[in-house]
Amino acid sequence: MKTNAKTLVMYYSFTGHTKEMAEKQAKKNNADSVEIKESKKRSKWNAYLKGCVQARKQSSTKIDEVNIDFTKYERILIGAPIWAGYPAPAFNSMIDMIPSGKEVELFFLSGSGSTAKTRNKIKKYLSDHHIKVSKYMDLKS
Ligand SMILES: Cc1cc2nc3c(=O)[nH]c(=O)nc-3n(C[C@H](O)[C@H](O)[C@H](O)COP(=O)(O)O)c2cc1C
Repeated sequence: MKTNAKTLVMYYSFTGHTKEMAEKQAKKNNADSVEIKESKKRSKWNAYLKGCVQARKQSSTKIDEVNIDFTKYERILIGAPIWAGYPAPAFNSMIDMIPSGKEVELFFLSGSGSTAKTRNKIKKYLSDHHIKVSKYMDLKS
């Protein structure tokens, strides 16, 4: 953590692509970066069987506790991989942490990009949590 960083990059990554992109973004923006980890380590099987169901339901998952002072950041970037057409469950857990009224920039990594339906569902999830989306990046890994 840098003491005077005004940008935060917060991300979850299962196989490393989102982490790589998050680190690039953090370097480019002289930002703090925080990797969010699920409390229970997921196997690949679990990711495909249970994780995809959770992702489609837009459910959160238990994550390791992190202490972030969101008031000190002017920009917040949040990154996650797409699972079964939806952000991985840890994305929802990250959104649950963001104070209401904040604005965020989102970036998603996926094999084939996300559909318009997915984008709308994600934006609705955020607006239900009173969080504004100022930028949305769909990146293919
Ligand atoms: C459980 C699981 C489900 C996935 N579902 C999709 C999908 O529906 N569409 C897609 O384009 N890619 C899908 N992928 C591919 C990932 O989104 C892609 O490899 C991404 O870059 C992974 O990011 P990560 O390395 O940060 O975990 C899936 C990968 C996993 C592990």
